[in-house]
Amino acid sequence: MRVVLIVVFSFILDASCQKKCVSKQFDKESSFVCACNSTYCDEIPPLPQLVDGDIVVYTTDIKDKRFDQVTMKFSQNSNSRIFAIYRDFLKQFLGPAIRTNPLTNHLKIMIYDFNRGSCGPYGSDRIMECGADKFIDVVLADESASSYVDGVAMHWYDDFNYNASVLDTIYNRHSDKWILHTEACAGFYEDESTHGVALGNWTRGEQYAHDIIENLNHWSTGWTDWNMALDTKGGPNWVNNLVDSPTVVADDNLTFYKQPMFYVLGHFSKFILPNSIRISSKFEGVDPSLLEGVAFLNPQNQTVLVIHNRGSDSYQVAIQDACASNQVADVEIEPNSIKTLVWNHQCVGTTQATQPQGTSPTKSASTISVYYLNLFLLIATVWFLV
Ligand SMILES: *[C@@H]1O[C@H](CO)[C@@H](O)[C@H](O)[C@H]1NC(C)=O
Ligand SMILES: *[C@@H]1O[C@H](CO)[C@@H](O)[C@H](O)[C@H]1NC(C)=O
Ligand SMILES: *[C@@H]1O[C@H](CO)[C@@H](O)[C@H](O)[C@H]1NC(C)=O
Ligand SMILES: *[C@@H]1O[C@H](CO)[C@@H](O)[C@H](O)[C@H]1NC(C)=O
Ligand SMILES: *[C@@H]1O[C@H](CO)[C@@H](O)[C@H](O)[C@H]1NC(C)=O
Repeated sequence: MRVVLIVVFSFILDASCQKKCVSKQFDKESSFVCACNSTYCDEIPPLPQLVDGDIVVYTTDIKDKRFDQVTMKFSQNSNSRIFAIYRDFLKQFLGPAIRTNPLTNHLKIMIYDFNRGSCGPYGSDRIMECGADKFIDVVLADESASSYVDGVAMHWYDDFNYNASVLDTIYNRHSDKWILHTEACAGFYEDESTHGVALGNWTRGEQYAHDIIENLNHWSTGWTDWNMALDTKGGPNWVNNLVDSPTVVADDNLTFYKQPMFYVLGHFSKFILPNSIRISSKFEGVDPSLLEGVAFLNPQNQTVLVIHNRGSDSYQVAIQDACASNQVADVEIEPNSIKTLVWNHQCVGTTQATQPQGTSPTKSASTISVYYLNLFLLIATVWFLV
């Protein structure tokens, strides 16, 4: 059967000129026939030369088509179609509904709400790591859709394997929108051994510290935990998606445990107050994968410097404020530790650090990078508990 079919098609496709159907309808309720005689019969259109990516589509239908031919293309990025649906839903329905209702018109609208590397949201993430900027560009390129958008929401779940520079790209193209980290939790891996609660686990505190520092240095204005408190299994959760939390309620329901993650959050949220401004901080002479940090000027005119040591060596760090360059504060940063330093603002902070065995620090000119964190800096919900 299959062979016969191919032969028939080859014969038809060889027809060199195309004749249209001479249609004849016998019944208004019916479709039509194509009339042929000894000198005339309709033919299907000859197959054109195909370019890679072309699709030739033939249609026959009840109404008026017999082998109607259209050529289309595979789109390079079929995601852009999904992005456009999301964009149009926002500008035609969601945005106007939120903005015209007096109960909701003060709400902020954030788009995306997914992982850094995904083509998301909720699309083929983890398979096609194309970057959050692709989606955000499609939505914000539309002036009307963009007018409903206050900010961009990000999740942390693939921060470990996708470059934070995608946030710089988003900020540089859309600096009128803020970036906020809206969801994170440790212990989210499918892997049995690392899923759920691990009481006292320091690595998870380090994951928080590293992620917050990295994202704040790449224009994020805040970082929110997914959970305020969970039970000792990491639930309850209706699909058994058990994870970890900075606060864990003990099985007796009378005690709760504050995890290392809880204190890490506090190293930021207690000092980097809302409306703080990130200022430039320069770490010199150290391996940035071991010693990292971020600096802010808070509204109380205090300079806040958070330093995180992920390594197992101690560091002697010489801290220098660029506005008082004749002074240095020598601070030890213990192995696997996070430290927050606060001092009255002198002008703009510059930090210099050296490894214990390292060469003497070189002085550097100060630079100022200023932006306003005008909304919810570090809404670490767990702090509301105490
Ligand atoms: C055959 O059909 C064509 C198209 O309808 C028509 O022009 C032609 O006159 C017909 N020839 C004969 C011999 O009927
Ligand atoms: C991330 O991207 C930046 C800028 O493109 C690059 O300098 C840096 O080396 C990248 N980091 C990693 C870990 O690939
Ligand atoms: C601590 O957490 C890390 C990261 O989730 C995990 O790899 C490690 O196994 C945990 N350690 C313990 C002792 O649970
Ligand atoms: C603690 O609270 C949970 C949820 O209400 C309940 O199922 C459990 O029995 C309680 N445990 C104790 C020891 O009271
Ligand atoms: C902060 O410091 C600057 C510069 O010294 C000063 O102009 C400003 O008034 C201070 N603001 C507050 C709230 O103290």
